[in-house]
Amino acid sequence: MLSELLLTEMVRLSQQDNMPLHRQLYEAMRRAILDGKLAAGDRLPSSRELTQDLNLSRNTVVAALNQLCVEGYLVSRVGSGTYVNDNVPKAHPRARNTNAPSQHAGLSKRGNALSTTFCATQLEVQPFTPGIADFSAFPVALWQRLQNKHWRMTYPDMLDYSYSGGHAPLRRAVADYLRVFRSVPLDVDQVIITSGTQQSLELCAQLLADHGDTVWLEDPAYWGAVKAFVATGLNLHPVAVDHHGMAPQPHDEKKPPRVIYTTPSHQYPTGAVMSLVRRQQILSIARTHKAWILEDDYDSEFRFSGPPLSSLAGLDQDERVLYMGSFSKVLYPGLKLGYLVVPKRLTAAFKQAHYDLNRPGQMPLQAALAEFIELGHFASALRRARQSYAERRRCLLEALQPCLGEHAQITGAEQGLHLCLRLPSTVDDKALAQRIGKTGLIVRALSAYCLQRQDAKGLVIGYGYAPLEEIKQHGPILAKALKAELKRSGF
Ligand SMILES: Cc1ncc(COP(=O)(O)O)c(C=O)c1O
Repeated sequence: MLSELLLTEMVRLSQQDNMPLHRQLYEAMRRAILDGKLAAGDRLPSSRELTQDLNLSRNTVVAALNQLCVEGYLVSRVGSGTYVNDNVPKAHPRARNTNAPSQHAGLSKRGNALSTTFCATQLEVQPFTPGIADFSAFPVALWQRLQNKHWRMTYPDMLDYSYSGGHAPLRRAVADYLRVFRSVPLDVDQVIITSGTQQSLELCAQLLADHGDTVWLEDPAYWGAVKAFVATGLNLHPVAVDHHGMAPQPHDEKKPPRVIYTTPSHQYPTGAVMSLVRRQQILSIARTHKAWILEDDYDSEFRFSGPPLSSLAGLDQDERVLYMGSFSKVLYPGLKLGYLVVPKRLTAAFKQAHYDLNRPGQMPLQAALAEFIELGHFASALRRARQSYAERRRCLLEALQPCLGEHAQITGAEQGLHLCLRLPSTVDDKALAQRIGKTGLIVRALSAYCLQRQDAKGLVIGYGYAPLEEIKQHGPILAKALKAELKRSGF
């Protein structure tokens, strides 16, 4: 009997750990699936039946089922019920035979949090997958030539770890770009080349906060940042986002921040642009609490309409902002290069710790990139990409136009590689994203990015990856699914 199996496992878990009930149920079901006791395609009892059989509250059962759906262990089919997903991997057979701990038993609590919750559950790249740029146009032959040249010129220094925050010409090129295009006042010395924003975030969390310190982050949030803060043991304090970006309320200040993480130029994922008033409010809060601000400017290179925005770092009078950017979107993600600009007073400490913790290197690659920028190829790649994304964006907006209205509004389309379609809070956006997934199109539910709030519903739709023809072809399919959903939900 399923309920007996689940109850036995829940009792065992409750003795081991101080887990809340919904987490015990989640864990018990997950283990049953991984151990094959619940097989692919099995239909689960309804949440009402489970509530009765397990003598739990409906909220507890629904929370556990939702989490398993989000992580892809279960799929819910409208009008038919909830099923074990066909694609769930089984636990290693040896682990099953020995009555040994399940797949995650050897992990720390942090390890479990990092490997299960709030992550990109579907990595398939399909039309409309958000967060993915089109790197098919990357000039591979040119890049190869530049890399070969720097490998030929390589002298021992270039094969060593990098002591000084990265290859000097690349740091110079980044500083020049940021001064002109992002109004960041900086010296080259303040630029540290990292392996991308993820590493910049980890470094900041490691150096600026201690275990248990509070980090304010936007709700909904970028899951990569959540991971970096969970990994460093920080206390997450979600701050709701409105149309002007992160919107701290007086009650938030009861949890004073040590660090504030924000994406002001294009909030990820809602796309809200932080207003000047809000920017000043965030800077003032940081000043009051002597907190650090981490400004993630992940897609500011692609601004399509409205005035260009300067950075938060550009407004900072107190040297409290650490600014980070990445080459993942303009060039290609596997390049794994990004940059972090730190206040002057922290420069030496950051370079030392970066060296000790990460042993940075890849100098020939950095040299090739520096030359790529110096020769104007970066600017051309950016120009081409901007033009092409602007067309894709226009085409997607056109396709979605018939669905828009009071109950379906687009936010965040002025910049970046995705837009956010906001839907009424009563819509089940996760089920909608799943239904759309069955047509071969991947979009993400806005609520899947939420940490605490329940009211943010919608779809996060990317237009960076798919070529224009595919957007033309698939846009109407997406629009049809949306229309049907709005009708089904009574709008
Ligand atoms: C909000 C945000 N920041 C940063 C990045 C890029 O991170 P990285 O440089 O680690 O590839 C992404 C990528 O999707 C992102 O969505």
